[in-house]
Amino acid sequence: MSTNTRGSFSDLLSRIHPLLLAPMAGSGGLQLALAVAQEGGLAALPAASVSGEQLEKDVHSFRAATGGPLNLNYFAHRSPEHAEDAMAAWRERLAPYYRQFGLAETPAAAGGGRAPFDAASCALVEALRPEVVSFHFGLPDKALLDRVMATGALVISSATTVTEAQWLAQRGCHAIIAQGAEAGGHRASFLTDDMATQVGTMALVAQMVDAVDVPVIAAGGIGDARGIRAALALGASAVQLGTAFLRSPEVMTTSVHREALRNVRDDSTAITNVFTGRPARGIINRLMREVGPMTTLAPPFPLAASALAPLRAHTEPQGSGDFQPLWAGQAAALAREAPAAEIMRELIAGAFA
Ligand SMILES: Cc1cc2nc3c(=O)[nH]c(=O)nc-3n(C[C@H](O)[C@H](O)[C@H](O)COP(=O)(O)O)c2cc1C
Repeated sequence: MSTNTRGSFSDLLSRIHPLLLAPMAGSGGLQLALAVAQEGGLAALPAASVSGEQLEKDVHSFRAATGGPLNLNYFAHRSPEHAEDAMAAWRERLAPYYRQFGLAETPAAAGGGRAPFDAASCALVEALRPEVVSFHFGLPDKALLDRVMATGALVISSATTVTEAQWLAQRGCHAIIAQGAEAGGHRASFLTDDMATQVGTMALVAQMVDAVDVPVIAAGGIGDARGIRAALALGASAVQLGTAFLRSPEVMTTSVHREALRNVRDDSTAITNVFTGRPARGIINRLMREVGPMTTLAPPFPLAASALAPLRAHTEPQGSGDFQPLWAGQAAALAREAPAAEIMRELIAGAFA
């Protein structure tokens, strides 16, 4: 299925610049979405880390300020069950840090603030009727997906391999994001967890374009207009950028993250599972160096985060980013410290003029 009642993804792209703001849980929000929409890109609001009430408020504010299209982004993972043993092993691995900082207790397992798409999220999508709904980590169950499709939303999801792209296309996705290994934040992978074989954007986009009939959106390591032009030359219909916006004032992130982004180089990032239990790309810090970057001790997503929360709370006020994720892609050094609208205008002028 490549069209719906509101037209195809290509119809949508004909009305905007083929430039998608990456939804960024914990960093992206209303102000960033508005800046991108006002410059003619596809705005996104990350729904996985905010309450339904907050999301509803943000969507209403977005609609009041702009007529541009909106992408609501959800995580489609399954919540882990019976992870007590894994959590105990994780707490034991982190115990030396607790001792170092004199922190007495480790907290119980919690969701880590990253809820999967469920019936309540689906009801909200039905009420808010975004033009686009995107998923990370695959797709929700068919019954929920059918309900999202019935709203007329264009459904997109990220794939890290051609096999994942074909899987998404078979289930009716209207477009597929080719997320290359360079990308910042969580790997979208849902049919593979082999981090040794992650495919780079350049190789992935070209092979995905050949393999599926729906539009492919390139993501990962695209830091400026040169990257956009390269992705389009490979056959991508659009590009999605996350890290390129991370230094803009509209992004809600910590001062330690901003400082790390200011000093980043091409080889400053790695894929790690120590922060949430799921592989993600971030700037290398102490926890990644000493416990990871990949470890079999991390409990399933998103449980790893809860045991880290006290360490982060203790160290962050001292200006340390040792125990928090500093998500960034491999092109982070290309990111400019500038308002998001200015970044958009520069990207558009350089790529499409
Ligand atoms: C800080 C940060 C948070 C992210 N959070 C999400 C998210 O909530 N949902 C999602 O689908 N992708 C998320 N991503 C991944 C992006 O969708 C996209 O794949 C990535 O930003 C592209 O690579 P780039 O960062 O090199 O531009 C995140 C990326 C970053 C950098």
